[in-house]
Amino acid sequence: MYNKIFGLFDKLRIIICKPWFLFYNLDVTSFKISVAMYKSLMCYSVNDRIKLKSDIIMSNSNHFFPIYSCRSGFDAILQILNTSPRSDDQPEIIMTGLNIKHMRMLPEIHGYKVKILDIDLDTMEPDLVQLKNLITPKTHILVVAQLCGVHIDLEPLARIVKENNIIIIEDCAQSINNEYFGSCHVDFTLFSFGLSKDYTAFGGGLLRVHNNEYRNSISNLLETYPIESQFNYLTTVTISAIKFILSSSIAVSLIHFIARQFGSNFENVLNKIGKEFNDQDDPSKLLAKFRKQCSTPHLSIIRDRIKEIYETPNCNKYQLERKMQGDYLTNQLLKIQMVKVVGNKQMTRRYWLFPILVKNRDKLLDQLNQNGFVATKTATTFGYIGLEEEENNCFKFREEVVYLPCFPHIPRIKIDEMVKLIKNFK
Ligand SMILES: Cc1ncc(COP(=O)(O)O)c(C=O)c1O
Repeated sequence: MYNKIFGLFDKLRIIICKPWFLFYNLDVTSFKISVAMYKSLMCYSVNDRIKLKSDIIMSNSNHFFPIYSCRSGFDAILQILNTSPRSDDQPEIIMTGLNIKHMRMLPEIHGYKVKILDIDLDTMEPDLVQLKNLITPKTHILVVAQLCGVHIDLEPLARIVKENNIIIIEDCAQSINNEYFGSCHVDFTLFSFGLSKDYTAFGGGLLRVHNNEYRNSISNLLETYPIESQFNYLTTVTISAIKFILSSSIAVSLIHFIARQFGSNFENVLNKIGKEFNDQDDPSKLLAKFRKQCSTPHLSIIRDRIKEIYETPNCNKYQLERKMQGDYLTNQLLKIQMVKVVGNKQMTRRYWLFPILVKNRDKLLDQLNQNGFVATKTATTFGYIGLEEEENNCFKFREEVVYLPCFPHIPRIKIDEMVKLIKNFK
């Protein structure tokens, strides 16, 4: 009911006044927020917790471990792989070059030397020739991120890597959906239920352990972590509710207007609204934040999301409408030469983000923003994770990316208007 009234009001406002479309939207409803709040106020027994955990672990016999966040899962894997680095023999990890800052920091904290693997920006596939050259006897792990809702086939890559006994970790934080539960060619798959992700559980994630060998050690390690309090989860859900309201285009218009009046950078305001624990850079504090178990109501919401993923035949209504919008926008943009639509050769795109590459992007961002389209060049800390400027595609992504707003609530006429602005941009 609330959604209907709110949606109607939103549509009216879009027709009457200048719209400001945010570069991300949340896959959540006021009903789901209310359920999470209700669950975090209930009492649970130890047996409830055990039952919820086993439901999650055994969902479709997939061995999904609930984790506090995708980053927690990555940290847990690095702990159990237990390569004790010696100064003269530093182990190496190869990572695809687009990810978030913390995913690069974690292996460094564990003593690994990080090597960056480039990807093709049309297909999102890693550069296999470069991969062969990067592998040395010290290479222990390869991390491949499945980005923007795309799933690439990992078999060709696994063929190269497995000859060298390298562990493969698939990072699907941006690519959770009902058709993909991880590649059978990898050892671990990570998923995220962070607030901005599809099927959000207001935080948390899943770690799928494909390799039997590691299941017990992962399970034992996760059991040693302290359990987050229900009150903390309630606070997180409440903050998420506020962010949900703030991400409506009415609120965005207002924030944008106020930020402009005070000469403040709107991107910074957006990033502050969007951040979860992205700001924490001190290694010891970072690990303390990740090494936790989800509270019982949080487990219950994660179990609900897994059910939803299994039970929705295609994807949920919001994602389906976003996909249609994304396909339309892609087709329009492919006609414009000076723009590269990232991932345009992948049919599996779900448009969790809609990145394009364009030269002179600040000018384009200015023009789009002046006309009511909140395009940005940063998506929290996601981007190139190499430390040096390099002649590669991931670095080019950092220099040229513009995230366009592409969501179901944007009327087609407005999408066309945005495309026209990009087309006429010199
Ligand atoms: C590619 C990628 N990996 C990992 C993460 C971290 O996910 P979480 O917030 O669940 O730790 C993110 C978050 O946006 C991401 O985009």
